Amino acid sequence: MTSHKLTVSLGSRSYSIYIGSGLIKAGGDGLLLPRLRGDKGVVVTNTTIAPLHLRRVQEWLATAGYESTAIILPDGEEYKNHEVLQRLYQEIFKAGLQRNGFICALGGGVVGDLAGFAAATYMRGIDLIQLPTTILAQVDSAIGGKNGVNLEVGKNLIGTTYQPRVVISDVDFIATLPERECLCGLGEVVKYGLLAGDDFISFLELNQADIMKRNPRSLAIMAHSCSRIKADYVVRDEYDLLGVRAVLNLGHTMGHALEKMYAYQNLAHGEAVAIGLTCALSLSFSMKLLSENGFQRALQLLQLYSLPMLVPVEADPDELIDLMRRDKKAGRGLSMILLRALGDPYLEENVDVELLRETLKRCKKPLIIS
Ligand SMILES: NC(=O)c1ccc[n+]([C@@H]2O[C@H](COP(=O)([O-])OP(=O)(O)OC[C@H]3O[C@@H](n4cnc5c(N)ncnc54)[C@H](O)[C@@H]3O)[C@@H](O)[C@H]2O)c1
Repeated sequence: MTSHKLTVSLGSRSYSIYIGSGLIKAGGDGLLLPRLRGDKGVVVTNTTIAPLHLRRVQEWLATAGYESTAIILPDGEEYKNHEVLQRLYQEIFKAGLQRNGFICALGGGVVGDLAGFAAATYMRGIDLIQLPTTILAQVDSAIGGKNGVNLEVGKNLIGTTYQPRVVISDVDFIATLPERECLCGLGEVVKYGLLAGDDFISFLELNQADIMKRNPRSLAIMAHSCSRIKADYVVRDEYDLLGVRAVLNLGHTMGHALEKMYAYQNLAHGEAVAIGLTCALSLSFSMKLLSENGFQRALQLLQLYSLPMLVPVEADPDELIDLMRRDKKAGRGLSMILLRALGDPYLEENVDVELLRETLKRCKKPLIIS
């Protein structure tokens, strides 16, 4: 299978993203690696991924002339914290890494965020290679340089923007991903469809069966399209200061509120985002921005990928609105990313709270017109 290559053009911080099947092979020659500063590094992964993929990665690095030590973290969002980060720094030090060492992050967004933050800060910054192993990480979190850890009072409150030297998205990793994690990643993929518009939505509509079967070729085309969209926003607003990169939060303000309401239990991030997308679509339609056709097509896409769409009946709209106001990504008023049309997102900084309350109530019942 052919692989895809993209460049994230950020001047001296530019890097390539490679997407395809069979990119990381035991005995493979590591040609995709850029020239790293030194030949010694660590592979940071977790207890679930290590038995599945670590050996292959270390053999691939060795064939390319790089010595690596494995650091295996506990698995789970609850370990994306300062305690585990401290342990990680100590293990990196014990492995003998100097300023010219590298960190290879082998995992989903949790490993990527932790290892990325360690790479950004250890000895004021060492080389970082992202090897994302979830759909979410391949289409989103491994690209763009955001990293960090959680505080008890909120997620991702500590972090930096530090670009990797290369991202290698080998879709073969996705073969071992649990079903629910796949669906969560597909929630983000549908988000990219809504951001990009007709062409990518048509691809997702036509290739749903192959994507759900995890056909490597379809997964690679999908990840390539998403990566291109994300890279484009990152290039235009690397540090998320101009409100350009903010549109990537479509569905997220509401999604974060739902996750918080459930205390990060029972409802996964991607599931919360899918419900958040439904609410953003519904509000955009109520505000007469999005056409009836566009609205129904978007809902059908969410349904096609079996994503959750209903606001839970027990959810109190006022509590959700209150949580949305407190989201760190929300501005001073109540802001949300909305759609003027499929493929035309914008940041609405002054959401009509009454209309939002009505929307949330309406989203407790199916919205699709059959
Ligand atoms: N930095 C960013 O720009 C950014 C963007 C979005 C999300 N995030 C962060 O990403 C995190 C979520 O990432 P995620 O959804 O990838 O979750 P995750 O990293 O927790 O991975 C999900 C689960 O799948 C397992 N897993 C990963 N790859 C596997 C594989 N190939 N085979 C079998 N099991 C595998 C993991 O061990 C874990 O149990 C959150 O912490 C979120 O804040 C960061």
